[in-house]
Amino acid sequence: MGGAFAKAWASSGHELVLYNRSRDKAEQLAKELEEAQVVPSLSEALSEVAVVLFAVKPKDVVHLSRECSGLKWQGPSPTIFSVLAGVSLRALQELFPWGGSFFRSMPSLSIAYKRGVIAVTTSDPPPESMKKLLSLLGECFWVEEGLMNSMTALVGSAPAYFCTLIEAFMQGGIELGVPAEQALNLALCAAEGAIAIIRKQGVHPAVVHAQIASPGGTTIAGQRFLEEYKIRAAISAALRGAKERAEEMGYSSNSLKG
Ligand SMILES: NC(=O)c1ccc[n+]([C@@H]2O[C@H](COP(=O)([O-])OP(=O)(O)OC[C@H]3O[C@@H](n4cnc5c(N)ncnc54)[C@H](OP(=O)(O)O)[C@@H]3O)[C@@H](O)[C@H]2O)c1
Repeated sequence: MGGAFAKAWASSGHELVLYNRSRDKAEQLAKELEEAQVVPSLSEALSEVAVVLFAVKPKDVVHLSRECSGLKWQGPSPTIFSVLAGVSLRALQELFPWGGSFFRSMPSLSIAYKRGVIAVTTSDPPPESMKKLLSLLGECFWVEEGLMNSMTALVGSAPAYFCTLIEAFMQGGIELGVPAEQALNLALCAAEGAIAIIRKQGVHPAVVHAQIASPGGTTIAGQRFLEEYKIRAAISAALRGAKERAEEMGYSSNSLKG
């Protein structure tokens, strides 16, 4: 996920400093970017930057905070920007007390292509510079922190669920005798078409559905099976599962003390 941010920001002319404990990964990424330098240590990475993006797994955050604990800043404290599922703003403030301001976010992987979504929460009003930086990633939603674990499901995980749906459409097309590549393209076109109509008309998806599903027609004949196999319940359960997992994985301020 760190690489997705780097790709979006590097191609917008921002200077990036990359650090990964597996240095070869940072070097591989730097090769793909226009403006990025790889540094060998965390202290070097943190010494000159205005914004620090943390993109480790939530389980690694305490270890990361310990690595930062001895560092000293000469200039202004950097802004801390986290993409860690489940890790609260309060926990970030306790883990990285040297930070200037704190942003907790939940991005989709598609930010790498500037077609992403990012949900962000912060305790202070965000400066214009941060809004500008985030606008380079795609669509930015500022939300209350209480919704952030739901954002993990709807922003971070949802693209994977859509990939499952697309794959199912592709497989269904193949079963109907359509060549695989064409079946994939048709599935993508159907998804893009549905999105375009909903966005253009600005209506509830059910209104668009009714425009397509004429009485006694083919679409309604197929829809019966989607309902019979409980597609809505499956999607709602998947989103709930992702949210609950974010709650389990994350650190609240209390769990840090315990
Ligand atoms: N993947 C997604 O679509 C997605 C979506 C939304 C949010 N997120 C969030 O993004 C974060 C990262 O997820 P990911 O899927 O990108 O994980 P990932 O592929 O495992 O990337 C994490 C990277 O951090 C490195 N790392 C770990 N501890 C470090 C340390 N102390 N110092 C320097 N580097 C360190 C790891 O190095 P090693 O390779 O050596 O382990 C690894 O390369 C998670 O917190 C997740 O909640 C991910």
